[in-house]
Amino acid sequence: MRQRSSIPIFALALQPNAATPLFKQIDQGIRHAIHTGRLNPGQVLPSSRALATEWCVSRHTVLEALDQLLAEGYLESKPRSGLRVANVPHLSRQPTSHAALLPSQRHQKLHLPQEPRVYPPPHSWAFAVGVPALDEFPKRLWQTLTKRCNRNLSHLHYQSPTGLPELQRAIAGYLQQARGFVVSPEQIIITNGSQHALSLAAHVLLEAGNTVGMENPGYLGARLAFLQSGLEPVPVPLDADGFDVAHLRRHAPQTKLVYISPSHQFPTGITMSLARRLTLLEWAKQQQAFILEDDYDFEYRYNSKPIAALRSLDDSGRVLYIGTFSKVLFPALRLGYIVVPPSLIEAFWMAILATTRHLPILEQKVTATFIEEGHFAVHVRAMKNLYLERQAVLLQAAEQHLPETAQCAPSQAGMHLLLRLGQNHSETQLHDHARNAGLLLESYAPFWLGTPAEQGLLLGYAAPNEKAIREGMASLGTIIASNPRGA
Ligand SMILES: Cc1ncc(COP(=O)(O)O)c(C=O)c1O
Repeated sequence: MRQRSSIPIFALALQPNAATPLFKQIDQGIRHAIHTGRLNPGQVLPSSRALATEWCVSRHTVLEALDQLLAEGYLESKPRSGLRVANVPHLSRQPTSHAALLPSQRHQKLHLPQEPRVYPPPHSWAFAVGVPALDEFPKRLWQTLTKRCNRNLSHLHYQSPTGLPELQRAIAGYLQQARGFVVSPEQIIITNGSQHALSLAAHVLLEAGNTVGMENPGYLGARLAFLQSGLEPVPVPLDADGFDVAHLRRHAPQTKLVYISPSHQFPTGITMSLARRLTLLEWAKQQQAFILEDDYDFEYRYNSKPIAALRSLDDSGRVLYIGTFSKVLFPALRLGYIVVPPSLIEAFWMAILATTRHLPILEQKVTATFIEEGHFAVHVRAMKNLYLERQAVLLQAAEQHLPETAQCAPSQAGMHLLLRLGQNHSETQLHDHARNAGLLLESYAPFWLGTPAEQGLLLGYAAPNEKAIREGMASLGTIIASNPRGA
């Protein structure tokens, strides 16, 4: 057949055995040629028969692709001249320059001062911070419960934004027994980890531009959530009693929100004294401000009674209490919660409806069952004993392998220790060398707002087993010994 086109038939690398059907491959090939300027407006296409012969496919296959492009306006049909490339006015024929696309200035304030954590299972868990003993998680039991919950799953329609009632009830019971405060299940808003709870609280409680008092050094996740909501974090120093309320009064009198981890301050491990807790509660009352209490790892308190939650001392309803299952179950579960005063339930309900609508139901149901059937209490008890042992192993290995100028003190709580470094060490240098050697420890500096007052490294001891802790510490000892300051 005579060809009416000035364009030669162009090659397409069709793959007959690929999962994408041939008509789709042709459609994509022509579309791409138009987008990239290989085919230009007005150019006439060869006949479908000629294309079919050239590409060794049936004419029907070619027609199917051409019909689709015709329907979407990439091609147009002119009487007696066949199909031609349409003149689409705003079709970009240049590859997009991604470098030119910038997010908003508000968003540009968000950056992680250290590289994101590794996500594939690492070679060794030494000394991942904030990661529980994932190897010890009862996966079989969890799978069995998941299967059972999945079989009985009857919640296929949209559910309440604030959470599955079974899980809200299970958490209310748990908080009463483990934290000693009574709340109604409706006050417990189920979130995608505590990170989501922080963002929600920032959005619901404050206006953009408001200041928020933060422990310095403090939790990076909270800082990110506040910055994203357009808030201004104000650094508040810590002393032996914890968060310095007097400093906050002096330097940021307009502050309407304080974020705090009083049971086990992250990352220093300081426990806020009772006197200081009461001072902070008094401040919140006078200022008509809110306190966000992050009780992220209260379960892990060794050889002493749990410290009373700030929420349990609060008689003004100004403390919003945040909990997470990331440390007691596993982080990928993405379940946490925030306990809010009754008058704010509606606002949180709305804020979730406007964003995530609600969390997946199956995970909520499995978690509720895990708690209700008593597996949760058993697991937490076992992990608490294990982490205490692992902390002892870490301390013993540190004494054996590290110099006196780089030691960590034992802690009554938590899943990590702070290794304080004397002036004869460079934190950055040691962190980089350790990371290159496969150690997952964290540098201390990023947790400071402004110039750090001291140097250190954070060592997690919950995730690595005894062997990994010993080997990791030997390797860290070698790195410290071979990297004197300035070397
Ligand atoms: C202080 C603090 N709060 C909360 C969390 C848990 O965050 P999420 O519940 O979003 O996993 C962490 C985890 O590292 C943490 O360090």
